[in-house]
Amino acid sequence: MKKVAILTSGGDAPGMNAAIRAATKIGLARDMEMIGIEHGYQGLLAGALVPLSTADVADIIHLGGTVLGSARSTEFRERAGRDQARRVLTQHGIEGLLVIGGNGSLAGAAALTAPDEVGADFQTAVIGLPASIDNDVGLTMYAIGVDTAVNTIMEACDKVSDTASAHERTFIVEVMGRDSGYLAMSSGIAAAADAVLFRESGKSHDEIVSAVTDIIIRSRDRPRGRSRRVLIIKAEGLGIPTVKLKSELDAELRKRLGDEVGGSFESRVLVLGHLVRGGSPTASDRMRASRLANVAMRALIAGHTRLMAAWNPGGPIPPEIGFRSTDDPLCTLVKLEAVAAETAKLLDGSSPTTKRRARMFEEIADVLAL
Ligand code: F6P
Repeated sequence: MKKVAILTSGGDAPGMNAAIRAATKIGLARDMEMIGIEHGYQGLLAGALVPLSTADVADIIHLGGTVLGSARSTEFRERAGRDQARRVLTQHGIEGLLVIGGNGSLAGAAALTAPDEVGADFQTAVIGLPASIDNDVGLTMYAIGVDTAVNTIMEACDKVSDTASAHERTFIVEVMGRDSGYLAMSSGIAAAADAVLFRESGKSHDEIVSAVTDIIIRSRDRPRGRSRRVLIIKAEGLGIPTVKLKSELDAELRKRLGDEVGGSFESRVLVLGHLVRGGSPTASDRMRASRLANVAMRALIAGHTRLMAAWNPGGPIPPEIGFRSTDDPLCTLVKLEAVAAETAKLLDGSSPTTKRRARMFEEIADVLAL
């Protein structure tokens, strides 16, 4: 393999640069030509290919975002767009492509190499790397960016807790994650939230409003000071707009306690939004991104395609799903189709992983509530 391209696609995630750096250095050390594709599949369609040198990746491991730029491409979702992408890769003699991104980007990698779409002239091998703060990519325990995002949320919650404590107030903090509650659950434990609201718990709208109202009222039984702050972390995928939840909680408190006392509990809202996607990646994300890039590059060199390098420290991998990396015992290489199938189950709640995460969280939450 002599010429390998890298693209980052979809929502950027901290650690993407660490993956670009590691892959580029591994390729250059083997005298490969390394190419960066700017702005994901959109840039691929436009032929936005740039050479990557050691200098280009020398000082990027600590940077959030992606130095290659990213995009969500609607054109690439169509067959005609993918035909164009295959033409560009072939014209430029790209023998291997690393796709660094979340579930949409990895589904794109599968479609790009789908046997029913690919002609004999298309020879580019494609390996994916999971990178998405949402941790909603199937068959990998962690995606690149998750650890940094959890830390960012935890720090924001610690800070907002200062003012919440001073005023004995309730804050509803909305965190990203699309349809996945992973970020909310993990940061909820790390920031010692009083309640964490996420879609996978299966609780109804009314149950949520009633349970959170109980928690807020009971907070006044605690000693005055820091312990009276109420921190509610809400996943964006919950299905109740955060401002609506706030007004319903405020109304329920007034209904139960009267205008004067109930009104004194009025909550505040903090939507963290895209802030959660930014920032310098944690050591854990830099390390994971570098190791996954190593496994992915070595897979390309060994002649593999249509796989994703995944972080899977333990357990056997059924051969129909993939195999354990011989280069890094904590990583596996899993088939892109299997990733797509498991991702769908993660999101519709039928995956054992989703059930395990929600169950484990509920058990921990029960203990925390004591
Ligand atoms: O998938 C990453 C993510 O940040 C989600 O958590 C969020 O729902 C979405 O992307 C936001 O997308 P955009 O950056 O296009 O607004």
